Amino acid sequence: MEVTSRYVTIKHHITGSPKQSDFEVKTANLFLSLDTGSNDVLVKNLYVSIDPYQLNRMKEYSASQMASEYALAVLPGQAINAYGVGRVIASANPSYIKDDMIVGLIGWEDYTLVRGKDVIMIRKLDSTEFPLSYHVSALGLSGLTAYGGFFNVCKPKKGETLFVSAASGSVGNIVGQYAKLFGCYVVGCAGTKQKVDLLTDKLGFDAAFNYKKTTDLNSTLKRYFPDGIDMYFDNVGGEMLEAAVANMSMFGRVAVCGVISEYTDAKRRAGPNMTEVVYKRITIQGFLASDYMNDFGDFLSTTSDHIQNGRLHVIEDISHNLESIPLAFEGLFAGDNIGKKIVQIADN
Ligand SMILES: NC(=O)c1ccc[n+]([C@@H]2O[C@H](COP(=O)([O-])OP(=O)(O)OC[C@H]3O[C@@H](n4cnc5c(N)ncnc54)[C@H](OP(=O)(O)O)[C@@H]3O)[C@@H](O)[C@H]2O)c1
Repeated sequence: MEVTSRYVTIKHHITGSPKQSDFEVKTANLFLSLDTGSNDVLVKNLYVSIDPYQLNRMKEYSASQMASEYALAVLPGQAINAYGVGRVIASANPSYIKDDMIVGLIGWEDYTLVRGKDVIMIRKLDSTEFPLSYHVSALGLSGLTAYGGFFNVCKPKKGETLFVSAASGSVGNIVGQYAKLFGCYVVGCAGTKQKVDLLTDKLGFDAAFNYKKTTDLNSTLKRYFPDGIDMYFDNVGGEMLEAAVANMSMFGRVAVCGVISEYTDAKRRAGPNMTEVVYKRITIQGFLASDYMNDFGDFLSTTSDHIQNGRLHVIEDISHNLESIPLAFEGLFAGDNIGKKIVQIADN
């Protein structure tokens, strides 16, 4: 027996901001009977993650395309793998049986055939104590990115100051919440009043501002951090990174998680004042969530505990249907999402 699987693909390489018209939905047929001994697993996809880094895979060239064999360049017409949650519908792998729930690398498609060699990229979800979508957001790679970047790259000390950009987004909101729980002074920036209010009124940030209403980022940051920024968690790059570096304290740390403002504009580059970097002995370090896979167990138990005890809010922005993936993706670069952007492809 076969299943017909729809998948989202690009029509051509993308430069600049992605538009819905850059994408199309195609179909493929997949066999339900898997070859014995192949170790393959066939998954019906329920929730998939919508992430800014996918844009770099869709370009003709980006440094990101060499970073991992699981995030290679996407060619026009190809299926696009992505993190998500699904249900096993057929298995030739002794570790999985029909109806197991899994989380890991699936795709922007109805069904994913996870090849035996790639089964290491999924894991069984044993617990039903949280909504499934949480395993794509706070308990998934967005959470791990926040955890690894904040604790390992920012290297916080209690009482220090943190600035985080794209602070209401998937990674940013969790960074700010970890930092508050750790005992830091936290300021975030975001692109609308609604997002700014969420940060201060619900998530406990000490302060937040709308960077789109700010004419002088440098003096705005000076006002929020009169004694300097000890840690800057950078999600956007560009002028924000320049202004943050200009306001860092001695021995400040910049965790460069992503530079979304540069993904859509090949000419935009941050030019931080390197004299500040030298004399203040600032550390600027890029990192990937995958650098911290060994911390996944600690991350999961700590974060689950925070959520269960009401100390950490999970902020998600879920759209429905596979066809909505291009719009959801386009929206990331226009600031449409609040919290983790996820598309629910199927109910069960
Ligand atoms: N290093 C890693 O392993 C890793 C893992 C995950 C994510 N990341 C990176 O982390 C960053 C955030 O990712 P996310 O998944 O958490 O996305 P997100 O913050 O949930 O969504 C993107 C947000 O970025 C903001 N934005 C979009 N265009 C912008 C621009 N030109 N200038 C300033 N802000 C802009 C928008 O919020 P506003 O309304 O606030 O503008 C938008 O809602 C991205 O750079 C991403 O590539 C890195």
